[in-house]
Amino acid sequence: MFIKNVQLRNFRNYSDLNLDFDADKILLTGKNAQGKTNLLEAIGYLASLKTIKAKHDSELIKWGEDFSKIKGVFTKNDSDTTLEIVLNPPKKKLLKVNEIKKNKTSEYLSNIFSVSFSTSDLALLRGNPEDRRTWLDEAVSSLYPAHADRISKYNKIRTQKNNFLKSLGGNINGENALLDVWNEQLAITGSNIILLRLNFLKELLKYARQKHSHISLKETLSIVYNSSILEDVNVEDVSEWTSAKIAEKFYERLDEKRNEEIIRAQSVVGPHRDDVSFFIDNINSQKFASQGQQRTIVLALKLAETELIRSKTGYNAILLLDDVLAELDDIRQTYLLNGIEERHQTIITSVDTLHFDKRYLENVKIYKIIQNENSADIIPA
Ligand SMILES: Nc1ncnc2c1ncn2[C@@H]1O[C@H](COP(=O)(O)OP(=O)(O)OP(=O)(O)O)[C@@H](O)[C@H]1O
Ligand SMILES: [Mg+2]
Repeated sequence: MFIKNVQLRNFRNYSDLNLDFDADKILLTGKNAQGKTNLLEAIGYLASLKTIKAKHDSELIKWGEDFSKIKGVFTKNDSDTTLEIVLNPPKKKLLKVNEIKKNKTSEYLSNIFSVSFSTSDLALLRGNPEDRRTWLDEAVSSLYPAHADRISKYNKIRTQKNNFLKSLGGNINGENALLDVWNEQLAITGSNIILLRLNFLKELLKYARQKHSHISLKETLSIVYNSSILEDVNVEDVSEWTSAKIAEKFYERLDEKRNEEIIRAQSVVGPHRDDVSFFIDNINSQKFASQGQQRTIVLALKLAETELIRSKTGYNAILLLDDVLAELDDIRQTYLLNGIEERHQTIITSVDTLHFDKRYLENVKIYKIIQNENSADIIPA
């Protein structure tokens, strides 16, 4: 799977870019604040509708402009797929696959697979539970687009329930039967979210453990899903769970927490409160691992994601590596660059080429990005 052309109109600091990629190893260089990450972000956004930095789509539109158009031509199985996104708020964003408009996100996704790896991922283990949930849900959604739809449905129901809880004003003895309606919907949608997360983590661990032990030499990685509904689940033991069994626990928990939820006027249990923990030889790595050990875990997880995509879809994901090489030591750099081998198209950003070994640079096409007065531009280096 390759990207062979990208066109940007008013995307971040790009006014008008039309760039052909005719190589599978690409290096985007340039000084700070020129537009390297922005270009990588555009490609990742086309593939996954997720962005490295933006919280809202509108942040992607070039300042002072009112719309943005992002278009990419990808090759898979020897034929071309064109993906296009038009942002023109307050209108809903327009999604097109091969010039045909798609109304549902799930119809747009799963055409192209990419895995992004940026310096903020290196902090995954140090970040907060929300960072880990976002990472997990994005990874799950890229393989199972229905997951993304389910998350947004779950969040909508949760907002409605929270509004109702607020309207009760903390009174646990008032009329609150409507709560059961929201709770039922939350339990059904939420248990499917949890089940898919568990199954995904189980599959991911198989590959991640291999990658991890290879680089750490002998340590064993484990993953525990910290659930507010099921408590701690070692993801190797997920087969005992079905969505019906999880839903049953969900109802029990909601009953237990009913008064607390009314008093606090918020939903206190569910997948929006869950977390993931990583253990090395049964030691909690978030609490005790060194920075290097934590980075090894993140690296193993990212490479495992590409393996999982290949095993589920047969495709080699496009790898988007934003500035990570400089942050990894020699051993991990070599492991990353060797680990991705020839199979993946790899687009890497870096201020310079100092961190790359000569052998890698021999086969890579280097582009230079320069911010001119009004827009960023790209020149072959
Ligand atoms: N919506 C936007 N409109 C116009 N410019 C933007 C927008 N969003 C970000 N920028 C600008 O784009 C510039 C380039 O950002 P980018 O993150 O791509 O830099 P970079 O080349 O990756 O730099 P670094 O090496 O520091 O990571 C920044 O100066 C930023 O202010
Ligand atoms: Mg950058």
